[in-house]
Amino acid sequence: MKINGQSYRSIWLNENGWSVHIFDQRSLPWDLKIVELKTMDDAAIAIHEMWTRGAPLLAMTGAYGLALALREDTSDANLARAYDTLLATRPTAVNLKWALDKIRDEAAQYQGEARMKAAYALAVKLCDDDIATNAAIGAHGLPLIEAAHKRAGKTVNILTHCNAGWLATVDYGTATSPIYRAHDAGIPVHVWVDETRPRNQGASLTAFELAEHGVPHTVIADNTGGLLMMRGQVDLCIVGADRVTRNGDVCNKIGTYLKALAAHDNNVPFYVALPLSTFDPHLENGAAIPIEERSPSEVTHIEGLDKDGKIARIQLTRSPAANPGFDITPARLVSGYITENGLFSTAQLLT
Ligand code: MRU
Repeated sequence: MKINGQSYRSIWLNENGWSVHIFDQRSLPWDLKIVELKTMDDAAIAIHEMWTRGAPLLAMTGAYGLALALREDTSDANLARAYDTLLATRPTAVNLKWALDKIRDEAAQYQGEARMKAAYALAVKLCDDDIATNAAIGAHGLPLIEAAHKRAGKTVNILTHCNAGWLATVDYGTATSPIYRAHDAGIPVHVWVDETRPRNQGASLTAFELAEHGVPHTVIADNTGGLLMMRGQVDLCIVGADRVTRNGDVCNKIGTYLKALAAHDNNVPFYVALPLSTFDPHLENGAAIPIEERSPSEVTHIEGLDKDGKIARIQLTRSPAANPGFDITPARLVSGYITENGLFSTAQLLT
């Protein structure tokens, strides 16, 4: 990813070889703030308070969190404690557990300093693998955009929800990876960016990313997608996922389901882009996925720049608010799953 022309990953190991850098995504797009994680507690806070977020990036932060914990104490008890602490930070995205399991199982084979080194080495590898995975998702998603371009013979309009971009992964993103690839290949694309209330990851993160990469885009209120689809102004939807169950049900940021319903009603293809680590082989269907309940204050309050260019927070209502963070899109509404291993239909998932 490029920010102001400079290349970055969204998480990287410091030159000292042990502390970890991330962006504090809460201050984007206004301020590019890099923070240093020095302890397992730092990593747990960064995940829980959403300095860092997005299913694959939660996994990588968790992986480094376990390595940081072992730097303090390499005992079995500390490994188990750190695993439990990090796992409890956010419940919905299964990628976090996937990465914690991998690091714990690898570390468990060693003792002392070798244990810590093994954890770091695997965390670094998982980050490198994530980039390759997302690049492959881009390659497998590109033909869908090429086909839409051939069909339409004009700019391809793609709707996306929340941020499944490079800020949700180590690089490229999942849902955005085919979009960046198409744009770089000279296919004219335009992205409808759902603002994604209540935390506005679309307006503040996806729009920021697309602007940095020079991809034409327009931010829309979350309620707008249905009308655009009805008017033929959306050629395809591509979203990310936090957990996909064995039957193909997709858990993603709240509001995804409504877009899938509108897409179905208007014959707009609805694709989910995800690494295989987002599949949960233990759950039969979406009903069993734990849905994170977040603070009502994310609904009752909103942040933005005031007229003096300072970040300001204002209250929208005095009434009680509810804030489930994710919803479930039934498999029947999904046109296909774009993974690093290729494009799959729901029927193929079931076999
Ligand atoms: O609550 P967040 O911001 O972590 O939720 C992010 C999303 O729902 C993304 O769309 C999803 O994680 C896919 S990330 C590639």
